[in-house]
Formats: sequence, structure tokens, C-alpha cells
Amino acid sequence: MSTQVTAVVLAAGAGTRMRSSRAKVLHEIGGRSLVAHALGAVREVGAEVRVAVVGHDREAVSAAVTETDPDAVQVVQEEQRGTGHAVQVALQGLPQAPVGTVLITYGDVPLLDAPTLAGFLADHHEASRAVTILTARVGDPTGYGRIVRDESGAVQAIREHRDASDEERRIPEINSGVLAVEAEFLARALAGLRSDNDQGELYLTDVVARAVADGLPVGAHVLEDVWQTEGVNDRAQLARLGRELNRRIVDRWMREGVTVVDPETTWIDSAVELAPDVTLLPGIQLLGATSVATGATIGPDTTLRNVEVHAGAQVVRTHGSDAVVGVGATVGPFAYLRPGTVLDTEAKVGTFVETKNSHVGAGAKVPHLSYIGDAEIGDGSNIGAGTITANYDGVAKHRTTVGKHARTGSDNVFVAPVTIGDGAYTAAGTTVRDDVPPGALAIGEGRQRTMEGWVESKRPGTSAAEAARRARENQQ
Ligand code: UD1
Ligand code: CA
Repeated sequence: MSTQVTAVVLAAGAGTRMRSSRAKVLHEIGGRSLVAHALGAVREVGAEVRVAVVGHDREAVSAAVTETDPDAVQVVQEEQRGTGHAVQVALQGLPQAPVGTVLITYGDVPLLDAPTLAGFLADHHEASRAVTILTARVGDPTGYGRIVRDESGAVQAIREHRDASDEERRIPEINSGVLAVEAEFLARALAGLRSDNDQGELYLTDVVARAVADGLPVGAHVLEDVWQTEGVNDRAQLARLGRELNRRIVDRWMREGVTVVDPETTWIDSAVELAPDVTLLPGIQLLGATSVATGATIGPDTTLRNVEVHAGAQVVRTHGSDAVVGVGATVGPFAYLRPGTVLDTEAKVGTFVETKNSHVGAGAKVPHLSYIGDAEIGDGSNIGAGTITANYDGVAKHRTTVGKHARTGSDNVFVAPVTIGDGAYTAAGTTVRDDVPPGALAIGEGRQRTMEGWVESKRPGTSAAEAARRARENQQ
């Protein structure tokens, strides 16, 4: 881009119709706040200077802006006196008056993307206009500003719905809210804004009529992809745009070589990374910074947040967060990977297993009904069904260490801190309180006591006693 671009993202409004304690622009789709989507697009399009106008719920919105784009200038609009006022405040808040083009977008229009903005700016520059409006033709233009054109089709003004005549209200072409305005003209036009409208506000949209009056070139860039102009005003729109964003994300990944069996039930956040030949089965949510490497299969019915899945792994009916699933590892069905879980190459975490802050070594297995917390399981070890790491003494957490190629029995409790050495065995039902040296067998159980004939003598007349009697008679 040859001309300098200053982007102004308006995000000071309250968003009353959300009926939320949070500012509207902080609500999320695709795992990202609305304002983060808006800031991402203007950054990606190459706007050198970016200004966010904040007002309502200022601290939270400001924190979100800083997190998304630390270089963005933040300007506070104390009172929301209209979009024109918001841009005035934005320009006053800049250390230097902008040169080149000012691109104005809204913090609540999340689907507008950088390629669209690039095309819009290119059109604005190629046509050498003072003002270009991003417009769309919509089925129901109610509420939007209308694009008023003369007989030749030249843009004359933007008329707000509430200020429009019946005839103007029939115009289907609407102002998306996105404008490109040459900086010098903008400064002049903003200074001349008046609040003689139905809302008594300063309307940014009035700069269009001003440019026409000044004999400056004005035009509209009509966008076919109407979704990109849509703003969020209530929770129904939030969901609608969220679904559409997801449809676009899923579509993109399919084009990149990901198999998605059921796009309708596959939810992928904006920041997720997928490799070619990943397979996504129905009913999954890949959230946050999740990544999935080639050949891995996820699902069905799986939710992963910030999980790194390596090549060829299989994750079935699993809920996971902040975890790593190694190359060729298998997880589930019905597994719960909690933060700090790291499964090494070809490790297995099986059915009804919960893990937390634990490393399961290469080829090691925790196949059934277990809780593994704060543990190190060495390469090639097998943990018996129904094993619990007793990691919490009521005050502090302690670690369990199992060496390599150990075989621990079913229904063990590892009372941490405790270490089971390389190649050690433990017997079924053992409560391991003391360290087990490498190669040893630990048996924790008292001997089984069997009291012959107890049922027939102590529980006479029961079905158990009857069955016992018949078995005894058959033996005789
Ligand atoms: C605005 C446009 C309208 C357009 C519509 C598209 C004006 C006068 N009207 O109307 O032509 O069709 O958007 O959605 O510009 N904001 C501030 N400070 C303010 C006022 C608004 O930051 O003082 C922000 C809001 O947070 C919002 C955006 O600007 O993100 C638009 O404001 P809103 O009040 O929703 O404008 P509309 O009446 O929808
Ligand atoms: Ca609006």
C-alpha cells in the first residue's frame, strides 16, 4: 500500500440490546472478541496507525485492545455523542494529525476481513476519491443509513433511517459503516459537523454530503458478501454471525486438505491450526490455540482447548485443555485431559481416565478407569485398571514417579510422594505408600480370609444361601 492508512475502530458504544454486563465488543465468536476481530482485520490490511475508540466498560475493552494489538492507540470517548464525534475524538487523540487515508470501521462487525478491506482501499485509491463508502444491497435495510444517489447513479449522501423519507427508506443499498476518507478533507468535514438530526448526534455519515457539496469525488464500493457488513446488536445476531464465521473457517480448512465429516457440528476457533489429512469426526469443538498435525483423527464428540495434537494421534470422545498429545498417541473414548498433561509418542490414555499435570512416556499406557495427577509415567510402562494417584494430602500436592517398563496392578493407589522403579511390578489392589525399587514386586494386600459355609449359616433363607446349598449338594 503506497498511501499511509490510519484505521479508526469505533468501540465506545454500550450495546444495550445485548442485555449484558459486558460491553458488546467483548462478546466472542470464533474464540475471539468482536473487537479483536475488527482490530485483526485493520492490522492485517496494513494500516500503519490504528486507533481504538473506547468508552463503555472502558477498562475491560481497553485490556482486550491491548492484548490484541499492543501498538494500537487507545482514545477514550467519555460521552457517546455519535459516530462523527467518535472520529473527532480519535483524531484528537493521535500524537500527529493523520496523513493519507483514514479507514473507519466498527468494533462490532466481526466478519469484515482484511482481503475485503484491501479491495476497498485499492478501489478508493485507484478512483482517487475523497470518500468511499463500503455498501451492500440487503433484503431488509431497516435501521441502516441509506445510500442516496442521483439519477446518474452518483452518490449524494447517506441518510440515516430515522431521518429518511418514505421514498429513501425503500433504498436497499445501505451504509455498512466502513468509510475511507482522505485525511485532510476528513479534518475539515468533522469540524463542520452539526447535530441537527433526529438523534441530536454528530453523524460521521454527513461527511459524504459535505464532500459532494465541496465538489470532491465520492463513491461506493458495493460488497456482494453481505455477511461482512453485518454488525452484532443482540445475542441472536451474535450466534448467527458466529455460525457463519465457523462455516467459513471449516470451509477454509477443507480446502486446505482437512476431512470434515460433518461441517454442521464441527466448531473451529479462528486461531486453531490444522494440517492436511487431519480427519475431524462429527461433534467436535477445537478451541483457542489448538493445533492438530497431519494424519491425526479427532472425534467424534470431542472438545479440545489449547491442545497440541501431533501426527497420527487419535482422540476419541475426549475433553481436553492445555495438553499435548504425542505422535501416534491414542486418547479415549471418554478421557479427560486436564492442563499440564503431556502424552509422549504412542502413549495411551484410555476409557474413563482423567489426567492432570502428568507426563505419560513413550508407549506407556493408562488404559482404564484411572486418575493420574502430578505424575511421571516412564516409557513403556503399563498402569493397571482403576489406578489412583493420591496426589493431595489435604494441604499440598505431591508427585508420583513410575519408572520405565513398570507393570502396576489393577486397583492400585499410589500415595504421593512415591516412586516405583524401572521394571517394577505391583500386585492388584496394592496401596503403594513406600517406594518400590527397580525390578521389585510390591504386594500391599493382607491375605484373603475365606470362611466356608458362612452364607448358609448367617444368611439362611436368602437366594444366595439357596444357591450355595444347591452348589454344595451338586458337589457331593
Ligand atoms: C451507523 C451509521 C449507519 C450505518 C450503521 C451500520 C452513523 C450516523 N450511522 O448507524 O449509516 O448504516 O452504522 O451499522 O454513523 N460508536 C462510538 N461512539 C459513538 C457512537 C457510536 O464509538 O458516539 C460506535 C458504536 O460502538 C458502534 C458504531 O460506532 O460500534 C456504530 O454506532 P451505532 O450507534 O450502532 O450506529 P448506527 O445507528 O447503527
Ligand atoms: Ca449499529
